[in-house]
Amino acid sequence: MTAVLYRLVYMSRNDITDEIDTQIDGILKTSRENNRLAEVTGALMFNTGCFAQVLEGPHNAIQATFERIQCDERHSDVTVLLFEPSNKRSFSSWAMAYVGAQESALERFGNLGDESGFEFTALDGDDIYNVLLDNLHDAEAQ
Ligand SMILES: Cc1cc2nc3c(=O)[nH]c(=O)nc-3n(C[C@H](O)[C@H](O)[C@H](O)COP(=O)(O)O)c2cc1C
Repeated sequence: MTAVLYRLVYMSRNDITDEIDTQIDGILKTSRENNRLAEVTGALMFNTGCFAQVLEGPHNAIQATFERIQCDERHSDVTVLLFEPSNKRSFSSWAMAYVGAQESALERFGNLGDESGFEFTALDGDDIYNVLLDNLHDAEAQ
């Protein structure tokens, strides 16, 4: 029997100040290695102010991955916006897609941290999920 899939969406405040590109590359490299082994897929979005991430996979794998992510000092105010069973993966080809550099994503996402004053609980998990998904499709089309 296949394990039930779960989807988790969170946002957090960026605390990286130096060598941001190198740090993001490092996060993506580690994420892709670990997530592939744990059957976790998803997408990460970043701007100077905040991160948004979707994780999807078996419950235990999401839990273990997210526990590590929460302890990471490169971000803070880690706020779960959505955690629910899901009948299919939306990011099945991606151990961790990176959609932070997409212009269209920045238009929709760029000021979210500022606009919400980092009150992430005021944001809707489905909206954030859709921003990531829409911009992933933009990335695929290129
Ligand atoms: C915004 C952000 C997103 C992250 N996403 C993931 C992820 O999807 N998977 C993962 O394994 N680690 C992720 N990490 C890194 C973890 O916090 C942690 O450093 C890493 O899992 C430790 O892996 P290691 O024990 O193999 O070094 C993320 C970190 C940050 C700051």
